[in-house]
Amino acid sequence: MELNKQSDWVARSLRSVWHPCTQMQHHETVPLIPVKSGKGAWLVDHEGRRYLDAISSWWVNLFGHANPRINAALKDQLDTLEHAMLAGFTHEPVIELSEKLSALTGHVLGHTFYASDGASAVEIALKMSFHSWRNNGKSGKQEFVCLKGSYHGETIGALAVTDVALFKDAYGPLLRASQTVMSPDARNAAEGETAEDMARKAAADVERLFLERADKIAAIIIEPLVQCATGMAMHDPLYLKLVRELCDRHSVHLILDEIAVGCGRTGTFFACEQAGVWPDFLCLSKGISGGYLPLSLVMTRDEIYQSFYSNDVTRGFLHSHSYTGNPLACRAALATLQIFEEDDVLAANRVKAARLTAALQPLAQHQQVRHFRQRGMIWAFDAIDATPDFSRRFFATAVEHELLMRPIGSTVYMMPPYILNDEEIDGLAANTLAVFNQVMAG
Ligand SMILES: Cc1ncc(COP(=O)(O)O)c(C=O)c1O
Repeated sequence: MELNKQSDWVARSLRSVWHPCTQMQHHETVPLIPVKSGKGAWLVDHEGRRYLDAISSWWVNLFGHANPRINAALKDQLDTLEHAMLAGFTHEPVIELSEKLSALTGHVLGHTFYASDGASAVEIALKMSFHSWRNNGKSGKQEFVCLKGSYHGETIGALAVTDVALFKDAYGPLLRASQTVMSPDARNAAEGETAEDMARKAAADVERLFLERADKIAAIIIEPLVQCATGMAMHDPLYLKLVRELCDRHSVHLILDEIAVGCGRTGTFFACEQAGVWPDFLCLSKGISGGYLPLSLVMTRDEIYQSFYSNDVTRGFLHSHSYTGNPLACRAALATLQIFEEDDVLAANRVKAARLTAALQPLAQHQQVRHFRQRGMIWAFDAIDATPDFSRRFFATAVEHELLMRPIGSTVYMMPPYILNDEEIDGLAANTLAVFNQVMAG
């Protein structure tokens, strides 16, 4: 009998692995792909079939699988220091990474706290905001504001500021209530309205809430420029500028969750740069380690840091995770930042983005497509009259066309790694069109 056949891996996985964000029964019809290896933008299964990773493996992989430069840095780090606890000890990779990140914000966000996953970073930002107000004698500021359609992760605290019914509703009784304000999603602009008009309208909704209860609000949390998990809802940078002003005027912290949109994804290294503002807390994860290792972090300002600095231990931020600041993950992040520097990635991405946008025009003009949109290295469009199983059928059809894509509801999106060559870009566009036509034809 042939050992390690593709079907054996599938059967073993379905017996023992509980897959994330999955109704496991759907795998009776939806394929499960056992990946054997990865190289560049491609994942390869046990039968040698390959799949273009058009969504960067849940938006984490920036410079391809098995990237030689990140691999070399990790191999070196592995022989030097794999891990050391970060309380009472420190190490070169975490120091260098913190310094580099601080410099990327012009040292406005000069203090970085580490964790592992995106949701943990969100928990940290929420806790830090509340605790900072409390340390400043404003313990009544206990509420958080999030946007309609927001997604900030699935732990209990992060889910409380998430507004995606599919993920949230089942756990409603466990969650603290938060205030939800209008999304600036440009798709909701009325006839004759611009994306800037939507930004102004949504900011007015924030102002209404702040006027009513800013004394009870600790922070507002926003995914800047693109609310990804709700379906790549894009908004004008003006919204961030207006909300920053409102936060300053009403003494509310601004938390920007750049877990999905940071690291060049929207065209600038941090999405908030396009609005010319910095938040009080900036959450980063996913791409920061190049898609190699779990790493998340929260950057904050000196005033916030100083509000915890004291003789009194209980005024300190007594939060930790065992793998906080793991040296391997930090070293992967340093290698990732080095690629940004050495390759002028943001400029190169502009050229790639223009080519993919041009190649996607048949879809942008397609009769069954609305709201074709793009920002930086994110493309999305909505299928008109999609059936409820559209996303699953699209995924299954995509793998037959050498593509890894998972639409969100009726929204098809692409968030490819930044290393696609011209042939891969053209192939991605052509195959997406073929998959879309096949799925829409039923
Ligand atoms: C904006 C945003 N915040 C937080 C998270 C949660 O990150 P993680 O899945 O690593 O916990 C995600 C994940 O998709 C995200 O897109």
